[in-house]
Amino acid sequence: MGPGVVGQLAAAGLTHWAFVRGCLSCHAPARRQWRQVRAALKGQPLAALARQGVTCADCHVRGYRRFGPPLEPYLAAGDIVHGGFTPRTGFTRSRFCISCHQFHRNGARLQGSLLENVYGEWRASRYAREGMTCQACHMPDGRHNFYGIHNPRFVRRALTIRFRARPADPGHDLVARLSIANSGVGHDFPAYTTPEVVASMWQSCAGRLCPGTVRRLVIGRRVSLNLKRQYFDTRIKPGKSRRLAYDVALAARATAIEARIVVYPDAAYVHFFRAYLARYALTPQERGDIRRVLVTDERSSYVLWQADRPLRHERPSPGGR
Ligand code: HEC
Ligand code: HEC
Ligand code: HEC
Ligand code: HEC
Repeated sequence: MGPGVVGQLAAAGLTHWAFVRGCLSCHAPARRQWRQVRAALKGQPLAALARQGVTCADCHVRGYRRFGPPLEPYLAAGDIVHGGFTPRTGFTRSRFCISCHQFHRNGARLQGSLLENVYGEWRASRYAREGMTCQACHMPDGRHNFYGIHNPRFVRRALTIRFRARPADPGHDLVARLSIANSGVGHDFPAYTTPEVVASMWQSCAGRLCPGTVRRLVIGRRVSLNLKRQYFDTRIKPGKSRRLAYDVALAARATAIEARIVVYPDAAYVHFFRAYLARYALTPQERGDIRRVLVTDERSSYVLWQADRPLRHERPSPGGR
């Protein structure tokens, strides 16, 4: 449970316990963690278990009994550690993840679509029909990777990117296409309202951007800070693609056309925490917590993909090849 969550819980305080408990039901769901957070809101330091957020026991222990996926080889071996565990097929199903990654159907919606709808999106995709679960991608072979938008290789592998540029003659427009296909994300890309992905193309003049030649496409679901308005939802559904078309006059000294895709994994939190710091009266401790996440979130962007194509200017001479 990062300082971004903790800072907000502290700001809400004991007087808004129902609010705090709502956050904890996903971020630190064990009752012992709730007691520790309560104690912290009364002034004690936050205990280590609560800081750990989602722990092994949250998913594997109920009523002091251990549960896990059916693993015949382990169970057949008989004498495994801590007296074994009770197998449950639920561990291997996508529904396992919904309590924390999917709003209930009566939950908050904008333009008809739930604010957290990863399971719903997955359910409507071919992955659900083909039995490819959340675990198949996020926990391959039982590994607890939980890779997501912060992992460039994981994201890159799930997309098919095509870039075509036709050399232009002087006086004509430069025509190029960049297409991004969601060929391997099991739900809308990117998940949630948090990240933004920005694709752009521009002409470069001697290594510099030629002014006025940039074209951009923002892929994401942008909502207002109070979650009351949706500005756009340009995310890409499984199996679909989105295209940035470039049709711009060739700049006089352009030598190349460049294309780039940048991922801002924490875009929404950057807006949110900036506003939070500006609007709320916070203790120095809370302020410090929030500042720390803001800095981390601002720095988390990365270039997912880039390419460039040289431009030829000369018209082929008449009769020549
Ligand atoms: C339904 C489950 C759920 C509830 C309820 C919930 N969160 Fe989250 N939260 C998540 C998930 C899943 C992520 C990670 C995905 C993402 O970044 O959008 C997350 C990410 C975050 C992050 C960014 C990651 C970090 O550690 O800095 C913050 C901050 C946060 N939540 C704060 C809160 C606060 C404050 C509340 C209560 C008002 C809350 N959350 C309620 C599920 C939940
Ligand atoms: C967010 C929920 C979650 C958390 C947290 C979690 N697990 Fe799991 N774990 C699962 C699920 C789901 C599976 C089944 C994955 C599958 O086989 O598809 C699993 C499988 C396992 C397995 C069997 C591995 C295998 O070979 O398939 C072990 C052992 C295990 N978990 C131990 C742990 C330990 C130890 C921790 C803490 C460090 C932990 N888990 C944290 C959800 C969780
Ligand atoms: C007990 C609640 C809970 C359950 C159950 C749960 N998650 Fe999460 N998950 C979270 C929270 C909270 C976060 C955000 C942690 C943070 O960034 O502070 C998260 C983060 C993630 C991330 C992003 C990690 C990253 O580094 O960006 C992925 C991917 C993910 N979960 C997948 C799954 C899958 C798949 C399942 C089902 C097998 C699952 N989760 C079950 C609470 C849960
Ligand atoms: C076919 C593979 C695949 C399947 C199936 C899949 N995912 Fe994902 N998921 C991805 C990829 C790739 C990303 C990273 C790109 C993105 O954010 O959309 C991702 C991102 C996420 C994130 C965002 C984490 C973050 O970093 O903020 C969450 C949460 C998540 N998935 C949960 C789920 C859940 C829950 C299911 C099942 C209902 C599921 N995924 C099914 C591939 C998959």
